[in-house]
Amino acid sequence: MTTIGNNSGENLHTNEFVWSLKCYQALYRRSIDDPEGFWAEQASALTWEKTWDKVLDWNPPYGRWFKGGKLNASVQCVDRHAQSEKRHKVALYWEGETGDTRTITYNDLFIDVNRFASALKKMGIQKGDRVAIYLPMIPELITAMLACARLGAIHCVIFSGFSAQAIADRVNDSKAKLIITSSGGYRRGKILALKEIVDEAVTKCPTVEKVLLVKYTSHNPPINTEKDIWLSDILDGDGTYVKPESMDSTDPLFILYTSGTTGTPKGILHGTGGYLLYASKTMQWAFNPSQESIYWCTADAGWITGHSYLVYAPLVLGLTSVIYEGAPDFPAIDRWWQIIEKYRVNIFYTSPTAIRMFMRNGEEWVTKHDLSSVQVMGSVGEAINPEAWRWYYKYIGAENCPIVDTWWQTETGGFMISPCIGIQTYPLKPGSATFPMPGVDPVVLDSNGQEAGLNKTGVIAIRKPWPGMLLDVYQNAELYQKTYWSRFPGYYAPGDFSMKDDDGYWWLLGRADEVIKVSGHRISTAELEHAIVGHNAVAEAAATAKPDEVKGEAIVLFVILHAGSVGSTDQKKEIIKYMRTAIGTVATPDDVIFVDKLPKTRSGKIMRRVLKAVASGTPIGDVTTLDDQTSVEEVIAAYEELKAATTKSLQG
Ligand code: WTA
Repeated sequence: MTTIGNNSGENLHTNEFVWSLKCYQALYRRSIDDPEGFWAEQASALTWEKTWDKVLDWNPPYGRWFKGGKLNASVQCVDRHAQSEKRHKVALYWEGETGDTRTITYNDLFIDVNRFASALKKMGIQKGDRVAIYLPMIPELITAMLACARLGAIHCVIFSGFSAQAIADRVNDSKAKLIITSSGGYRRGKILALKEIVDEAVTKCPTVEKVLLVKYTSHNPPINTEKDIWLSDILDGDGTYVKPESMDSTDPLFILYTSGTTGTPKGILHGTGGYLLYASKTMQWAFNPSQESIYWCTADAGWITGHSYLVYAPLVLGLTSVIYEGAPDFPAIDRWWQIIEKYRVNIFYTSPTAIRMFMRNGEEWVTKHDLSSVQVMGSVGEAINPEAWRWYYKYIGAENCPIVDTWWQTETGGFMISPCIGIQTYPLKPGSATFPMPGVDPVVLDSNGQEAGLNKTGVIAIRKPWPGMLLDVYQNAELYQKTYWSRFPGYYAPGDFSMKDDDGYWWLLGRADEVIKVSGHRISTAELEHAIVGHNAVAEAAATAKPDEVKGEAIVLFVILHAGSVGSTDQKKEIIKYMRTAIGTVATPDDVIFVDKLPKTRSGKIMRRVLKAVASGTPIGDVTTLDDQTSVEEVIAAYEELKAATTKSLQG
C-alpha cells in the first residue's frame, strides 16, 4: 500500500496515483464483470451454518443474496469472537455523558446478549416478531439489537430524540409487540424522560403488549404494573445460553424508518447475510482498520450509520469501538477531542455538520488535545463542503490522514461511493466521494434517462443489485417499486444529483427530491407538512429549506393560519414547539413565516422552487421548465408576492 502522504488532491497525475488507481480498478473490474464470483469469494468472511445455493437471486426489483444460506447475525458479531483468541479483546469502550465508563470484552458481550435474549424469550419474543427499541446510547442498546437478532426477531430502533407521536407511527406501522426503553437518558446534563415519552406513545399503539425497562438514570419513572417490566427483574445469571435461531440469509434483520417523499416515514427492511457481508466488507475497504485499531463512529445507533458502522460492521470484523452517549459540547466543546485523546482513537467517523460546529467554535479547543493517534477520518450524511474538509484535514488529521467521504443511504445498507484506503490510496478531492465501492455500478442520467457525459450534472442511478440493498419497504411493495425503481426502469434511483468529473471522481450534489437534510438527518417536506396541519391554528402550510452554515439545511415553514388566529411571535413559538412534539427535535423549524396565500401552479401544485428561493433569499432563476400550464410571468408574480409577504411576516 502507498503511504497516505499529502492526500488533499495535489499531484493528481503522478505515477503513484496512476498505479494506485489501477490496483483499485482491477479489483473493481472483477466485481463488476463477475459479481457473483466476487461476492461468493468475499462471503467466506462470515460464518455460515449452511452455505448458500445461489449467490444472487435477481428478480427485479428484488435482489436476494446468498439464497439458501443459513446464519445468525449475533453469531457473526459475538459468538465467533467470544469463542476465539479474541475472547478478552475489548469490543466496546462506553463513555456516558456523566463520565461513567464501561469496558465490554467480546466475552462480556456474549454473556450480555445471551442474558438479554433469554429475557426476551421469557416475554414471548420469537422469530419474525417486531421489537421496537427506544434507548439512549448505552451498551444495552447494542445488546438489545443483538439479542433480537439472536432470536430472529426484527428490531426496529427508534432514535431517542423522536417524539411520542413519531414512536407511535413507527410502532404501528411495524406492529411491534414490545418496546424496549429505559428509565431515561442524559443529554447536556439533563435527564431525558424516555419512559414518559413511551408511555404517551403506548396509549396510541394497540399492538404493544409490554414495555421492557432498562434501569439507567437515577429518577423513578411512573410504572404501569400491567405493562411494564424491569429488565433486571427477569435477567438470568451469567451462564445463560440461548441457542441462536438459524436464519435464512434473506430473512429480515431489521426495519429502520426513514423519510421519503410521503407524509409518513417508510420502513426500510434489511436482510441478514447480504447486509452483514456488505456492511463489514465496505468498512474494511473504506477505513482499512487493523485488529489493533480503536474505532469511533459518533453516530447514534438510531440512524443507519449507527446500525451499519457502529454496531454490525465493527462487530462482524471483531474490532474495538468507542461509543459515547452524550452531546458533543457537554460539559465543554472539547468533549470529543478529550475522548479521542483518552482512548487513542485511530479511526474517527463523523458528519460535516459536527465538523462545521467545531470549526465555528475555534481550533483552540482542538489543539489543546493530543490527537496524534488519529490515522483515518470519515464523513457522512451530506457532501462535506471544502472549507469544512480542509479544517478537518488540518486540525483533526494534522494534514496527514485521509478523509473518507462515504456516500450512501439508509436503503443501501453500506457505503456506495467512497475512498477505499483499504484497497489503495489515491489523492482525494475535497467534496468528492471519489470512486464506487467494489460491486457498485453507478451512472449519471439526464432527465430523459440518458447517460450524461463527464462533468454534466444529472441524477445518480445504480445499475446492478448489491448485497447491502434493502429487501423492501416494510409491507409496502408498491412504495418500494415506485420510489426506487420506477423513475428509470431497470435502475435503482437514490434521488441524489450527481456528477462525474474528467478524472472519474464522483461528486454527490444533494437531494433531487423533496427530502431535506438537517444536520445530516433526513426529513421530507411532506412529513413536515403532514405534521403541521395537525395544529389547530393552521389552515395550510408548506415546508422548504434554506442553507445553514452549521446544519447544512434549516427548515422554513410557510403557514396560512385559520381566520381568527394571529401570526404573532407567540404563535410562532407555539408552532415550533408543536413540531418538536409532533416529530422530534430534528423537525424544529428555523423560520415560521405567516402568509395569506401559497404559490401554486394552475393545477394546484405548490411551486417548490419559489418557496425555496424566497426562504433562501436567492433569485428565482430559470423558471421555464415548470411542467404545468403556469406561465413564467405567473411564477415570477408568485415569487414576488411571497417575498413581500415574507418580509412583512419576518418584520412583524
Ligand atoms: C446524503 C445516511 C453527499 C445523500 C448514510 C443521501 C451524502 C442521503 C453523503 C441519505 C455524502 C449521505 N456525500 N451526500 N458523503 N452521505 N448523503 O438515509 O443525499 O440518512 O441520499 O443515510 O444523505 O441519507 P440517510
